[in-house]
Amino acid sequence: MSLNPALKQANTLFCAADIVLDDAYQGINAKSWKSLFAQARRANLEGFIFDLFAGKPVNQSENRPALHAALRNLDKKPVLLDGKDVMPAVSEVWRRIEGLCNKWVGITDVIHIGIGGSDFGPRLAIEALAHIPDIETRGMRMHFLANIDTAELARILQRALPHSTRVIIVSKSFTTLETTKNAKAVVRWLKDSGRTESQIHNALFAVTANVPAAKEFGVKEDNIFPFWDWVGGRYSVWSAVGLPIALQYGFETFKEFLAGAQAIDQHYQTAPLEENLPVIMALTLLYQQQKHHIKSFAVIPYADALDWFPKWLQQLDMESNGKSVDRDGKPVKFSCPVVFGSSGNNAQHSYFQLLHQGTEVIPIDFIAIREPMSHLPEAKEHHRILLSNCLAQAQALANGKQTDNPNNTYPGKRPSNLLILPKLNAFYLGALLSLYENRTTTLGALWNINSFDQPGVELGKVLAKPIEAALRNKDHVQADDNIDAITAARINLFNS
Ligand code: F6P
Repeated sequence: MSLNPALKQANTLFCAADIVLDDAYQGINAKSWKSLFAQARRANLEGFIFDLFAGKPVNQSENRPALHAALRNLDKKPVLLDGKDVMPAVSEVWRRIEGLCNKWVGITDVIHIGIGGSDFGPRLAIEALAHIPDIETRGMRMHFLANIDTAELARILQRALPHSTRVIIVSKSFTTLETTKNAKAVVRWLKDSGRTESQIHNALFAVTANVPAAKEFGVKEDNIFPFWDWVGGRYSVWSAVGLPIALQYGFETFKEFLAGAQAIDQHYQTAPLEENLPVIMALTLLYQQQKHHIKSFAVIPYADALDWFPKWLQQLDMESNGKSVDRDGKPVKFSCPVVFGSSGNNAQHSYFQLLHQGTEVIPIDFIAIREPMSHLPEAKEHHRILLSNCLAQAQALANGKQTDNPNNTYPGKRPSNLLILPKLNAFYLGALLSLYENRTTTLGALWNINSFDQPGVELGKVLAKPIEAALRNKDHVQADDNIDAITAARINLFNS
């Protein structure tokens, strides 16, 4: 879909990889835009984009590049890291993924074990593409196992057929507690179901940046798909972490997914800031934050198939930019707002009351798909209703409504973007995810935050260890260096 030049003159419409952005309801005038672009240039955004794609160590604290874009560099244009091209290794993994797709016949169940960035991306993609009526599908049941509570595990083990199940353990570090515990439980289930040692070895696969740990766990070397420490977990769906996409929908579909992402990368690197979609989206948020001190941000895809998208974005945004200090350790005035969302129209019947009349102004990204989502006789009419609701909500939020009754008054001036995808297929899904990845890292650059580490998730993990020991021992617990008085009392409650 290319933009009609007459519409383009509106100055609120932008287009990349056939995805249209309309920021008309942001209420940003030409003077403010000028100063926003000047601010982006002062923050050396163009230099950041160059460094990101050139493999410079933009993840300063861990002294690493963030080269996830190399994973969707289908042209195999060399990407140098310490003088060595990473593309031969990336291509070799593509070759192995394709080989595996051709080899897997007669598999009824795949249990994908992983959490956070090793879960959200493939889970979202499998859900988002399932609605496509003519999509090639291998018909496997794709089970996603993330949480340590055994409800999900029990549900999956009840449905899966052990003799025709394959298990993919996905963990960049291969030390994540939830993942390794769940993997052990699935191996135990395979054993209990009568599978021999060698059958279990053949059924286990791993995707990891820690190959020795995967081998140590008992995964055969041939069944390990590597990725690298220069890929952040939440940016990793483009690596073999996205294996379920290829296995379920075919390697060509996986490549289409990568191609959509690559198209946005190319736009992000080459378009001037004034026409650059990820940059404009980031700047609309920055404007609302600086001008109106917004604290939250909502993303509402008007597509049920994208219901996992807000969860994926929550990790991407908040784990990347939910920080209080900048790259130099100095306090920042602004960083990532709280991100939430779910699919429209369902969201309208949940928290839209607050979006319209709550005390807080919450900017929204609405995402709409031009084409209906099925071939059912009702599809066109239902889709029209869906789109009319999406457009109406944005209008109501922006303009509000004044009445004599304060209870029925809508304050208005609630900003939103509208993104329009031509359709929801692998290409546009890849483009959408890449658009938001590049928006997230743009925001990091504007706030001078390192978007590629996540030190804040460590403390809780460390503290859980002595608490777990205390819950296991069942002895009466006293407060000590690791466990404070309130938590000690709570442990004693559970142990009583
Ligand atoms: O929650 C922290 C985190 O490290 C995320 O960044 C990551 O996506 C997730 O855990 C899973 O990590 P891994 O892939 O190493 O198991």
